[in-house]
Amino acid sequence: MGKIIALANQKGGVGKTTTTVNLAASLALGERKTLVIDFDPQGNASSALGVDRTQLGDKTVYQALIGEVDVASIVQATEMECLFVAPATGDLAGAEIELVSAFARENKLKAALAPLRSQYDYILIDCPPSLGLLTINALTAADSFIVPLQCEYFALEGLTQLLHTVSLIRQSTNPALEHEGIILTMFDGRNNLANEVVKEVRTHFGPLVFEAVVPRNVRLSECSSFGKPVVLYDIDSKGCLAYLNLAKELIAKSQPKPAQAPSPAPQTAAPVQPPPFADIQQPSTV
Ligand SMILES: Nc1ncnc2c1ncn2[C@@H]1O[C@H](COP(=O)(O)OP(=O)(O)OP(=O)(O)O)[C@@H](O)[C@H]1O
Ligand SMILES: [Mg+2]
Repeated sequence: MGKIIALANQKGGVGKTTTTVNLAASLALGERKTLVIDFDPQGNASSALGVDRTQLGDKTVYQALIGEVDVASIVQATEMECLFVAPATGDLAGAEIELVSAFARENKLKAALAPLRSQYDYILIDCPPSLGLLTINALTAADSFIVPLQCEYFALEGLTQLLHTVSLIRQSTNPALEHEGIILTMFDGRNNLANEVVKEVRTHFGPLVFEAVVPRNVRLSECSSFGKPVVLYDIDSKGCLAYLNLAKELIAKSQPKPAQAPSPAPQTAAPVQPPPFADIQQPSTV
């Protein structure tokens, strides 16, 4: 059964889309079949994965959300074998208003994704920069959420509001919603403030903060304009390395914990394969 993860932060421009696309591509590189749901009317995740949004017609997330088409019929392949995208256009903005009077309006995305879940290892939802009905649908459909947090002075400001929304969702539409973690983005080690923010967030949230920290890296912004995830654009860049590390952490978290007293391995046990990404190191600047 695939894991559904929403990437959410109502603050604009903090790296939600960059993280969704590049985490998804890193998971796909590790042979995890991954679907990106572009759940933002801006459609940035679709463009960043090479989708021509002018040619979509009625094959968008909006039509799937209102039940006009199956989500499966809107899914597009990408340049990577294990990576797929359900694209969005500006139409999706209408859903925010149209769904207000709909029955079970918070559950529309959950219902739409249900038939797809078993076909993917991961489904990542790129949320818009708001806590409106689209983000509520995403958090209702998700097993867990990741918060991309920009390493800047007001980073924590919106987080309280987001976590309040999450607690309301846990009390109503999705009691099992888990906090997967916080990923620090756009880190610039030369900036004292950024170092302070990292320290403060780690002090407050401890193990909830991913070890991987995404540096400010021009390759990450360039690759989107070429419609490619960074693994296909510059796999040696520091930005790419950070997202490969994030994928490695996420996969490790999802794996079942070993039993307390493991029984000795049988003599004939197959050789142990190193997990994907096992050889990837953290950038030394972080
Ligand atoms: N680590 C990074 N280094 C450099 N530029 C980055 C990095 N992460 C994101 N960017 C750039 O910052 C801008 C905002 O990033 P992104 O679109 O991922 O944020 P967002 O949270 O999805 O924004 P929105 O709230 O508008 O959806 C983009 O131009 C992106 O290319
Ligand atoms: Mg975005």
